[in-house]
Amino acid sequence: MTTLENTLGLGLVRQPKTVLFGPGQRRQLGRYARGFGTRALVVTDERMATTPEFKSMHDDLVTQGMSVSVFDQALPDLPRQNVLDATAGRATGGIDVIVGIGGGSCMDLAKAVSVILAHGGDVRDYFGEFAVPGPGVPIITIPTTGGTGAEVTSLAIVYDDVSQMKMAIADAHIAPAVAIIDPELTLTCPPGLTAATAADALSHLIEAYTARPKNPTPDQVATQIYVGKNRITDMFCAQGLRLMNQSLGTVVREPSNLAARSDVMFAAYCAGMAINTTGTAAAHAIQSPMAAIGHTPHGFGVGALLPYVMRMNLPHCTAEFAEIAGLLGVADPGADQLDQAKAGIERVDELLENVGSPTELKSLGVAEEHFDQIAALAVKATRLVLNNPAPLTEANIKTLLARGVANDRSWWPVA
Ligand SMILES: [Fe+2]
Repeated sequence: MTTLENTLGLGLVRQPKTVLFGPGQRRQLGRYARGFGTRALVVTDERMATTPEFKSMHDDLVTQGMSVSVFDQALPDLPRQNVLDATAGRATGGIDVIVGIGGGSCMDLAKAVSVILAHGGDVRDYFGEFAVPGPGVPIITIPTTGGTGAEVTSLAIVYDDVSQMKMAIADAHIAPAVAIIDPELTLTCPPGLTAATAADALSHLIEAYTARPKNPTPDQVATQIYVGKNRITDMFCAQGLRLMNQSLGTVVREPSNLAARSDVMFAAYCAGMAINTTGTAAAHAIQSPMAAIGHTPHGFGVGALLPYVMRMNLPHCTAEFAEIAGLLGVADPGADQLDQAKAGIERVDELLENVGSPTELKSLGVAEEHFDQIAALAVKATRLVLNNPAPLTEANIKTLLARGVANDRSWWPVA
């Protein structure tokens, strides 16, 4: 059976200097922020800005003697205009710390603004890998959903209105200085958002655990953001998968269960730590152009693709899917590796179904007439394509899309 060989035994972690996890820990914000200076810029979205939790965090900064300005217009899928608006009229060097509070786009906005306020120019100047010339303004992230992992990643995804594509600043200089992860902030997260963000985090864990190890040279480690599956990302994935398996169903049935919310948020943090050096793969490469069709939330898009991506990848990483079965508690020790791997994949299908995330593509508005366009754009996401264990060609993406539209999970390709 096939396995993915990390022949170097490589391990790499890029991470915030401080990660603080636990219920109520958002009350530490003022102390941490004051450590960077006296001038804070908080970026968030309109809904979050009206909540009592936001007000108390804002007041905490003021109590610490800081001058605080707020940009509360962050939008989903972070349009470039958001970065222009948040930085308009602000002088380089005029802010000591940027606090991103909210979902992935709020935290990514904090990262993009950090670069502009430190180095000037347009956000488009920094798209790509390691294009930021030096440290940005220190960033504190406070996530309010258990999903994207953006609180710890060195990645800011921005929708570029010029190229009409999602682009990324991928650079260790935008790693947050402090991530404060407080599960209490997810207690009021509505069921649809909980489901979509959990499906996203689960997809990150699977795509990172089955990402291609790249066995990079030292030069490649220094110049490429994604160095492949490695022993440190495996460690985070293992813990994240165990917690998702344990608590994902509970979060949906009992949204106010703090222990379950904590597990899912910790799993999402683990997933963020893993994708920060492995990157994501086929599900994310295909979801991006697919999103333009049904305007599906990111998490539901990648979640709906995942059952078909896992089956396509199975012949290339049978051992890893068997290990996933073990982590998800469905590996029959008497069964052979292939059967264990299939059981692991079916358990992931089940977790997606339990959380209410779609597991086929028809309900997302995808039809045969879209296949050519989706496949042509998906293969352009080169960094993600290279991470996928199975070769990702336009032809096999179209086959995968057809299976997804037909809700056909009966196929088990084997090497
Ligand atoms: Fe994602």
